[in-house]
Amino acid sequence: MAKKRNHWIVPPGTEPTEMDLRILEEEARGKIVPTRDLIKTPAQIEGIRRAGVINTGILDMLTDVIRPGMTTLDIDTLVYDYTLAHGATPAPLGYEGFPRSCCTSINEVVCHGIPNEFEVLEAGDIINVDCTTILDGYYADSSRMYVVGGHTDARRQKLVDVAWQCLKIGEEVCSKPYVFVGDIGNAIARHAHQNGFSVVRDLSGHGVGLAFHEEPDVDHYGHRRTGMLLVPGMVFTIEPMINMGTWQVFVDEDDDWTVVTEDELPSAQWEHTFVMTDHGVEVLAH
Ligand code: MF3
Ligand code: CO
Ligand code: CO
Repeated sequence: MAKKRNHWIVPPGTEPTEMDLRILEEEARGKIVPTRDLIKTPAQIEGIRRAGVINTGILDMLTDVIRPGMTTLDIDTLVYDYTLAHGATPAPLGYEGFPRSCCTSINEVVCHGIPNEFEVLEAGDIINVDCTTILDGYYADSSRMYVVGGHTDARRQKLVDVAWQCLKIGEEVCSKPYVFVGDIGNAIARHAHQNGFSVVRDLSGHGVGLAFHEEPDVDHYGHRRTGMLLVPGMVFTIEPMINMGTWQVFVDEDDDWTVVTEDELPSAQWEHTFVMTDHGVEVLAH
């Protein structure tokens, strides 16, 4: 019988570090552990951090300009112009055929809404704008909710707030290294369900940094101590999509991108890019 090879490899001729030992211990217990290529160097983390500053700057800039009467294409133009003015590239543009520079997802749209000139923002809409910036080859990915006109009904406001709390709870779970992706998802789903909401299962957070989407998948539901072990040097997103009604979603057949809730009740999402360190996660893009 073939001998099972460790996923985590200690470079031959070197003493295993503290981190090597923690990882090998979890691997011996049958847990999913990262491969070495998922561990970023300090220089790579700094590059992702710089991309993150621009990505965060875009979402800050949008806070003061999103208002009733503007179109989602107006938002896209602002994102595109800001990104290029800062010497960077919007990752969505041309990504697997995506035609715009960001995703704009209003009310019952869960994610991957395509900005267009016909979609006009109305007071009380809740909209997620999701941006990913490439700078010097490094990727940072974050998204926020905006309440158009500053006020919405109590149910949608609660959805926006609980989705934010879900992201913060995920971050809190990562206040130390050597937690599992399933620990994040379990805590997030618990909080969503306690508030009478559901968690989208078909889309997840992800590793990020040297590419748009890397390993691991970061599900926003699941069981503790399942999924991949998160160790110092890993860069990943948490981006819970929280629904008012059913967790089930469908993809709009007309554009093959727009993800909509099955019951067409609203959905909300917030996303940060994080780096795991020896003392827990730091935010690289928000
Ligand atoms: N930014 C999204 C995410 O959080 C991915 C968008 S893919 C696109 O993973 F092509 F629609 F931009
Ligand atoms: Co993402
Ligand atoms: Co994103």
